[in-house]
Amino acid sequence: MRPSKLLWAIPSATFHASRNLVFRRAPRVANALLRLGNVSGRGGAHEGPRAVDYFHGVVSDYEQIATHTGLVPDARSLFRGRRVLELGPGDTRSVALLARLRGARLVEGFDAFDITSRDERYLRGIYEPLMERDGEPGGFPRAKDLLRDVRMHPDRASLRAAEGRYDLVISRAVLEHVTDLDALFDDLARVTTPDAVQVHKVDLRCHGNKFDHELDFLMFPEAVYRAMASHTGMPNRVRVGGYLDLGARHGFALVYAGATHRISVAEVNAVRDQLAPPYDRMAPEALAVLGVWIVLVGKNHPLATKALKDLTTEALPVAPAEILSPF
Ligand SMILES: C[S@@+](CC[C@H](N)C(=O)[O-])C[C@H]1O[C@@H](n2cnc3c(N)ncnc32)[C@H](O)[C@@H]1O
Repeated sequence: MRPSKLLWAIPSATFHASRNLVFRRAPRVANALLRLGNVSGRGGAHEGPRAVDYFHGVVSDYEQIATHTGLVPDARSLFRGRRVLELGPGDTRSVALLARLRGARLVEGFDAFDITSRDERYLRGIYEPLMERDGEPGGFPRAKDLLRDVRMHPDRASLRAAEGRYDLVISRAVLEHVTDLDALFDDLARVTTPDAVQVHKVDLRCHGNKFDHELDFLMFPEAVYRAMASHTGMPNRVRVGGYLDLGARHGFALVYAGATHRISVAEVNAVRDQLAPPYDRMAPEALAVLGVWIVLVGKNHPLATKALKDLTTEALPVAPAEILSPF
């Protein structure tokens, strides 16, 4: 490793390992600190009034990807009558609110961290304009009414008890934070109906943990990275191939996958020999993919027979940016 990168990597590892220790030993304190710091997971650019554009974009993207995949005849029918599970909703219930406005029968959530804002003024400032933009009268009291039954599962035991309850699972910028994806998908296999649909957007970028290259965070050896990240929700570092075959390992069929961000193979090759195992041996084309949409269906869904088996990263299409939000 270059000395300059070492000078970045050592303090970065020390800082994150200390933070991880707090999250491991005192998770309630850590959650309270995240709330106090208004950590939303959206990034500073999507806070305040801009959160309204963001959440409209998030929901519209689910609808567009579902339509593009052929799951629904038109965008507005994705949520109608569905029983929805949102993974990792963040600090608001904005997606749940829009899903309810679009006719979802039930919306529930599952999050490993309790970062839900308790600040009514903050939530009002997002929910009211969200409703207005959807042409829905009633303001904040109506929003609270629509969200009254939106329950959050705080842990796996609670989630697993919801056996066969959901026919739509959605997530955005969440799966890359999940330490044990197979455990989560075991749970999803249990709590979804056999014809359920799942739409996930996964961000495979470094989430700020870099010196001067997007793949710098793959330089930390696995044991070091585990000490830095096991309890804080930092990226799990699973690369795109790990998401393309994730569903199949749990009885779901992959019916769509599309890359959202890519760097060039030349950019990958500039750092590839500095990466830790197993990343140093991965195909550059796989390391180049820094974001992906995946759509999965249960085995009784009509599209399950059209599963994309053996989709390689080289053959991965680009997600249709022209119908998606910029977020
Ligand atoms: C980057 S934020 C995205 C929040 C929201 N989906 C959005 O787009 O604004 C990641 C979310 O995933 C949650 N999360 C992290 N690890 C998780 C896990 N293992 N299971 C479920 N949710 C998790 C975080 O608490 C947070 O709510």
